[in-house]
Amino acid sequence: MNYKFANRLSFLQPNPLRENARKNMMHPEVISFAFGFPPEEAFPIEKMAKISKALYELPDHEVFLQYGDTKGHPMLLEPLAKRLETVYDVYDEQSDDLMIVSGSTQGMDLTVKAFCNEGDIVLMEAQTFSGAVNAVLSYGAIAKPIEMKGETIDVEQVESALANDTEGKIKLIYLIPTFQNPLGTSMPLEDRHAIYEIAKKYGVVIYEDDPYGDLLYEGEPIPRIKSFDTEGLVIYSGSFSKILAPSTRLGFIAASKPIIEKLILGKQSVDSHTNQYWQLIAAKLMTDYDFEAHIDSLRALYREKFEAMIEGLEKINPELLTYIRPTGGYFLCAKLADDVCSVKFNDYLIDHHVAIIPGNVMSVEKKGFEKYFRLNFTKPSIEEIETGMAIINDALKFAVKSSNKTIAS
Ligand SMILES: Cc1ncc(COP(=O)(O)O)c(C=O)c1O
Repeated sequence: MNYKFANRLSFLQPNPLRENARKNMMHPEVISFAFGFPPEEAFPIEKMAKISKALYELPDHEVFLQYGDTKGHPMLLEPLAKRLETVYDVYDEQSDDLMIVSGSTQGMDLTVKAFCNEGDIVLMEAQTFSGAVNAVLSYGAIAKPIEMKGETIDVEQVESALANDTEGKIKLIYLIPTFQNPLGTSMPLEDRHAIYEIAKKYGVVIYEDDPYGDLLYEGEPIPRIKSFDTEGLVIYSGSFSKILAPSTRLGFIAASKPIIEKLILGKQSVDSHTNQYWQLIAAKLMTDYDFEAHIDSLRALYREKFEAMIEGLEKINPELLTYIRPTGGYFLCAKLADDVCSVKFNDYLIDHHVAIIPGNVMSVEKKGFEKYFRLNFTKPSIEEIETGMAIINDALKFAVKSSNKTIAS
């Protein structure tokens, strides 16, 4: 059958490199540094089971089995608003509203739906979350990559793109300022202020995607861009995927009231509302248990794995591989030296059952980042990290193009 599909999804193709990582993961011996998954031990199973049992024992099951509000269940919205206000200062009852979305990926989808006509432009970090790029493309909008300058988006390039946008096509600036995916790095405070001032000058909305922000392992938290937004220009997006469980599909958006109103309209035709059962599980975890202690336990669990990965990287000759050390999150990103052949390196890892995500997969244009690869350290065990990093070290030595190059062991 020759289906007459709309053009809308024609720009979206399964990525062969990502498919390779997926296939590699099926191998029973695989050590996966590929996907941004939490490990089994991160799930608060006992608490979730207790809450779930109590829900089924309620006299009124409609509280979680009936149709609900598109905006989200009040029992979750309330503690979440309080947390966003007190912990991150990204929610202000007077000027903001909050809504629950079905995964923060949906938040980006609804935002593009609300702001972009076909041919409109979204500025994005050149290396970024592929789900956000796909959201942009699926509405016929253009994802315009902005180069990275060290750890952060090149703010001057953002300004010059806006200054040259005489037709007013740029509708959004999509950023992952805290523990970026794939880089793991965080935008310094002065850059956050600078980009906010630019957005204000040109009246463009910033989408601040922050699914990893709670997972700080070193140093002090950096204020979120939304925390100094006085104009209703920043859409703040968070998720329970990395701090509870991805299958809950619970994300949330804090933004000005008119923006939330529009996003709610957009969500009504997608799924009416987000799953009520999981909203209540999350709500009860926040109100009946010590949620901050849960986050602390995740930080402790991941900090250990993060340090194991850094230790593995430190054993590698910096002439072959460099990386920027993050201070939190799920990932770090490494760069192969010019002498290292990325094809040989990737082939060696596939043959030895180590899965990584090649740099191009997590980039706007799916090219230009052959020398980069992303490593996740939350899902593998410490032993897997140690073994996997040793295999990566071997792969680098194998893939050095010049056979007479001296390599320290
Ligand atoms: C930057 C970023 N935003 C959003 C998501 C998706 O979150 P969710 O599971 O809430 O849709 C991810 C990753 O999985 C991500 O890396």
